[in-house]
Amino acid sequence: NHVEMEKIVSLSRRRGFVFQSSEIYGPPGGCWDYGPLGVLLKNNVKQAWWQSMVQERDDVVGVDASILMNPKVWEASGHVTGFSDPMQDCMVCKMRWRPGDFEGTVCPACGGKLTEPRQFNLMFKTFMGPLEDTASVVYLRPETAQGIFTNFDNVLNTQRKKLPFGIGQIGKSFRNEITTGNFIFRSREFEQMELEYFVKPGTDEDWHAHWLKTRLEWYVSLGMKKEHLQMRDHCKEELAHYAKACADIQYLFPMGWSELEGIANRQDFDLKQHSKFSGKNLEYFDEETKERFTPYVIEPSAGVDRSVLAFMLDAYTEEPDKDEIRTVLKLHPRLAPYKAAILPLSKKEPLTTLAKEIYASLRKAWMVTYDEAQSIGRRYRRQDEIGTPYCITVDFDSLNDKMVTVRDRDTMTQDRIPIDEIKAYLFPRLKR
Ligand code: GAP
Repeated sequence: NHVEMEKIVSLSRRRGFVFQSSEIYGPPGGCWDYGPLGVLLKNNVKQAWWQSMVQERDDVVGVDASILMNPKVWEASGHVTGFSDPMQDCMVCKMRWRPGDFEGTVCPACGGKLTEPRQFNLMFKTFMGPLEDTASVVYLRPETAQGIFTNFDNVLNTQRKKLPFGIGQIGKSFRNEITTGNFIFRSREFEQMELEYFVKPGTDEDWHAHWLKTRLEWYVSLGMKKEHLQMRDHCKEELAHYAKACADIQYLFPMGWSELEGIANRQDFDLKQHSKFSGKNLEYFDEETKERFTPYVIEPSAGVDRSVLAFMLDAYTEEPDKDEIRTVLKLHPRLAPYKAAILPLSKKEPLTTLAKEIYASLRKAWMVTYDEAQSIGRRYRRQDEIGTPYCITVDFDSLNDKMVTVRDRDTMTQDRIPIDEIKAYLFPRLKR
């Protein structure tokens, strides 16, 4: 990918997409805050996932489970014993590294000798209740998936679902990563969008293939360039402790092809483990065949923050325009923080009154913005840079002809349309 990460980091900071957490004190590593523009973009990504994975499907329902769970969940799931990364310390500069993240056998920072790798559990621990003893230890969830498995029976009984069916969830996860970096690519607090799709054993491989294809298409449907996406199968050694097979959707990030989403075949591992540890039977009864069995599960698991980063990188464009360089964030209209900007040509009355009336009417339907500061050219540039697909200019003629000029972010072409028709004009263009 030709876009340097630094461009996105700088745009994010300058225009209010992403800030470092607790910046005024010196940020802790791997924690980020979404600013006024970033929260809109991030919510739009989540909304687009929810619409395609839950809203538009008969076979999927959603949940929002708690982050803190009974710690037995993490024993059953294998995370207490198995969710760890190897870690090496530099004996000279004391930096910590994850083998595989760097080439060679010495410290990439100072060339010092490294300790032997040792396993480091990635779960954050805290205490529940007033006592800080072993009996009060709880974990911040490292994946949202377990809140779905532990609700399998509740959902089955209350929603009358038949196999195959899925449960989707979007929420925060936490991992005490040894190394963080590449901006919001790998952090210690992040969000996941996960679907656990339960199927009859034997049909799992077909469903795995189905979800790989469906998820790849989702990114493309939101404007991500096909040539920046690829699939990569995990080899046996890489598979997580619960998986029979896993394929990643990778994006061509500035640091190279890296994981955007993992799509795993978790088989019946989780439901069986939870049955064993909780004593609750989590089998499924098939009314037609009168069989009782534990369903297999296919899990498309995407990172919200990685998606936000990939969508921004993919949309970032610098184009020559007259003697200048125009920076445009060509985000899909569904993802764009603001759908339109209302710009009175001048700060004078009664232009601003009319512009504000249009603004007040449009903001009931969409997230839109209003800007009357500086020249119209500067204001167009500002909107281009944050990805606003349409600029609506109110000029002196608008007072008489009741029309406005709508400028398209990508083509810069302009249409003159009646004020009464702005909503009808924007509606199909923002939905596409
Ligand atoms: N439930 C399966 C699971 O959690 P994973 O491959 O470990 O699988 C799924 O994580 C996705 O979550 C990744 O593809 C990535 O997008 C996101 N993710 C994982 N760790 C992350 C981190 N430290 N920072 C940001 N995103 C992360």
